[in-house]
Amino acid sequence: MKRVLTIITLASISFLSAKADEGMWLPSLISQRIADMQDKGFRLSAEDIYSVNQASLKDAVVLFGRGCTGELVSPEGLLLTNHHCGYGQIQQHSSVEHDYLRDGFWAMTREEELPNKGLTVSFLERMDDVTDIILKGNDSSMSEKERADLVKSNSEALIKEATQEGKGLRATVEALYYGNQYFLFLYREYSDVRLVGAPPSSIGKFGGDTDNWMWPRHTGDFSIFRIYADKDNNPAPYSKDNVPYKPKKYFKISTKGVQEGDFTFIYGFPGRTQEYIHSEGVRYIEETGDPHKIHLRTLRLDIMKKYMGESQKVRIQYSSKNANVANAWKKWQGEVKGIRKMKTVRTKQEFEKAFDAWAEGGEFDGVTGKLAALYAELEPYQFATDYYSETVRTVEIANFAMSIARLFSQEDFDKAKAEELAATFYKDWHLPIDKESFVAVMNEYEKNIPEDFKPAYHKEKLAAYGSVEAWAEDMFTNSIFVDPDKVKALAAEDKETVLKDPATEFSNEFLKWHTTDIQPVTARINRDLQLAYRDYMRGQMTYCRTQRVPKAFYPDANLTLRVAYGHIKGYSPSDAVYYMPSSTIKGIMQKDNPEIFDYNIPQRLRDIYAARDFGPWTDASGEVPVCFIATNHTTGGNSGSPVINAEGNLIGLNFDRVWEGTMSDIVFDPEICRNIALDIRYVLFIIDKVADADHLLEEMVLE
Ligand code: ARG
Ligand code: GLU
Repeated sequence: MKRVLTIITLASISFLSAKADEGMWLPSLISQRIADMQDKGFRLSAEDIYSVNQASLKDAVVLFGRGCTGELVSPEGLLLTNHHCGYGQIQQHSSVEHDYLRDGFWAMTREEELPNKGLTVSFLERMDDVTDIILKGNDSSMSEKERADLVKSNSEALIKEATQEGKGLRATVEALYYGNQYFLFLYREYSDVRLVGAPPSSIGKFGGDTDNWMWPRHTGDFSIFRIYADKDNNPAPYSKDNVPYKPKKYFKISTKGVQEGDFTFIYGFPGRTQEYIHSEGVRYIEETGDPHKIHLRTLRLDIMKKYMGESQKVRIQYSSKNANVANAWKKWQGEVKGIRKMKTVRTKQEFEKAFDAWAEGGEFDGVTGKLAALYAELEPYQFATDYYSETVRTVEIANFAMSIARLFSQEDFDKAKAEELAATFYKDWHLPIDKESFVAVMNEYEKNIPEDFKPAYHKEKLAAYGSVEAWAEDMFTNSIFVDPDKVKALAAEDKETVLKDPATEFSNEFLKWHTTDIQPVTARINRDLQLAYRDYMRGQMTYCRTQRVPKAFYPDANLTLRVAYGHIKGYSPSDAVYYMPSSTIKGIMQKDNPEIFDYNIPQRLRDIYAARDFGPWTDASGEVPVCFIATNHTTGGNSGSPVINAEGNLIGLNFDRVWEGTMSDIVFDPEICRNIALDIRYVLFIIDKVADADHLLEEMVLE
C-alpha cells in the first residue's frame, strides 16, 4: 500500500515539477527568473530585459500586425520579421507582372519602400499589475455579472487615463490566470510601416507546406520592413513626409555563430496556450475537435492543390489562403500525436484525482467535478461550432455576399465600399475551388452533424435540391455574386435581390441559427468554465505550494509580451533517430529539385553555391548556416521573435516549432519540444549575396 502511494505521489510530482525550459514569463517580473537565467548562461540583468526608466530590450521588440512579432535592427527603424508574417503584404503588392512572391522584392532606395494599408506595429511602453485597481469595489457578495461589470468599468477608466496623451497610445487590460490577476499593457502603435525586402518564396518559403512544422528545416523565413514616424518620432498615418522611426533600442547582430548548449532567449508575443486545462478539455481536442477539423481541411486542401497546380494565376490567388489553411491543419496533426504520446489525458486525470483528495472539504472541493460536467454539456455545442467555422464559414462567396449585404443594412448604400470589397474579393477568388469545397465540406456537415444540431434551413434546402451537389450548382450559377459586373451594378434599390440571393441566404440563415441556437449556449457554458477555472487555477497554485509540489507557474499566453529561455539543443523524436541542432546550405542543395515546386531554388543560389561565394557568412565547416532549434517555449505569435544570445545580441528569428512538439500549447515536453529559428547569418547572406542589398547591411551593427 505504502509503495503504491509513493508511486502516485511521484507521478504527480513528475507531472508538476518545474520542467527545465518550460514557461513564458512576464518581462516586468523577470527579476524572479533572472537568477535561473544567469545560472544557465545569461549575462545581462533584469533591467536590460525590461525597464521603464531606461531603454531596454523590450523597446526593440514589436507586435507585428495582429499576430506576429518583429524586432528593430537599425537606428533607422529597420525591422525584421518572418516572410510568412509579411506574406499578406508581399502578396498584396504582387500581380502576374510583378510577382514579388515568386521573385522577391528589394527596395534599393527609401523611395521604393512600399506602404501597407492596415499594417501596424506596437511597442510596449509599460505593463503594470493593476489587479487591485480593477477589482476595487469587488466583494464576495457580488454576483458574477456585477463583478464583470465592475472589471469592465474599472478597466475602461484605467485605459482612458493611460492613453490620455494620445500620440498613438493604445492600452488593454488583460486577465491573467483566468482572472485571478489583471495587467495593464500600454502600447504605442505605428501605422506607417513599409515593405523593404523579401526573398523569393523559393527561399522565404523553401520547403513550403511539405517542410512546415518539420525539422530538419531550410526555410529562409524572413522579410524586412521599416517603421516611419512624423518628424517628432511619433506615430502618424502614411505620408510621404514621414521619416524613418528612431528606436530607443535596436538589436546588435551576432555573427559569431551558435553551438549546441548555448543559452538562448526569445522575446515576443505568444498567442494562446492552455497549460492548466482539465483532462476533459484535452480529451475533446484529442479525440474529436482536432481529428474532425483535420479531415475537413484535408478535403479543401486537396481541391486547392489541384487548381493551383494548373495555373500560375490561381497559385498566386490562393497562395496565402492555402498556407493559412495548411498551417493549422498540420499543427493539429502533430498536436494529437504529442498529446497521445505524452498520455496527457491520463496524467491530468491522475493529477485531478490527487487534487480532489487534497481539496475535499475545503475551498476547492468539487471544482474539478464542475469542470468535467461543464465540458460534457459543452461538447455537442463545441462540435457544432467547430463545424460551423470549418464548413459554412469557409465558403468564400457566402462570406463575400454577407459583407455586401451588410452594406445594405446601413442607411445609405455605400457603393464605393462595395466596389472596394468586390475588388479585393475577385482579385483572389476562383469559382471552381469555392464550389468544389462547398460540396465537400457541406456533405461532411450533412453526414456528421446530428439532426437536432442542424438548422431547419439546411434540411429544407437539402430536401428541395436532393443533394449538396445540386445545391452548389444553383448557388454557383445563379447567385449574382458569381458575376463581378452584376455586383458592380448594385444600387440602393437592389436590397431585396441581395438579401434573397442564394449565397447571402446561405450565410445569413446559418449565422442566424448559430447566433440564436448555438452561440448563446456556448457563451454561457464558457463563462461558467472561466469561473470554475478561476477557482481551479488558484486551487492548483495553492495545492502545489502547500503540498510542496515543485512547479513554477506562468500565465497562459494571451498575445502579450513574454520571455522564454532555454538553450540550443538537438532531439530524438523516436528510437534510433537523433536530430542535430543546426542545418546548413548544404541541406538546401540536397533538397533542391527543379521538378518539385517547394524545393525549386533560384538559379542564383545554385550558382553561388557552385562558386562557394559565401562571403563571411559561414560556420566552422565552411557552409552557410540556415536554421537551428532550441528548447524555448513558444507558440503561434512568436513568429518573427528575436532569438537572443547570452549577451543580448540577435542570433536568429523564431519562425516555427518541430511537429512532434506542437502539443506544447497544452503540455510541454523538454525532451521533444523545440522552437525553430532562422540563423541570422543566413539572413545576412541572402541580403548580401542574393539581393545585393548591402545598403541594408550598412545600417545594422554586426558583432
Ligand atoms: N508553422 C509556422 C507558423 O505557425 C509557419 C507557417 C507559414 N508557413 C507555411 N508553409 N504555411 O506560423
Ligand atoms: N509559425 C508560428 C507563428 O506564426 C510560430 C510557430 C508556433 O506556433 O510555434 O507564430
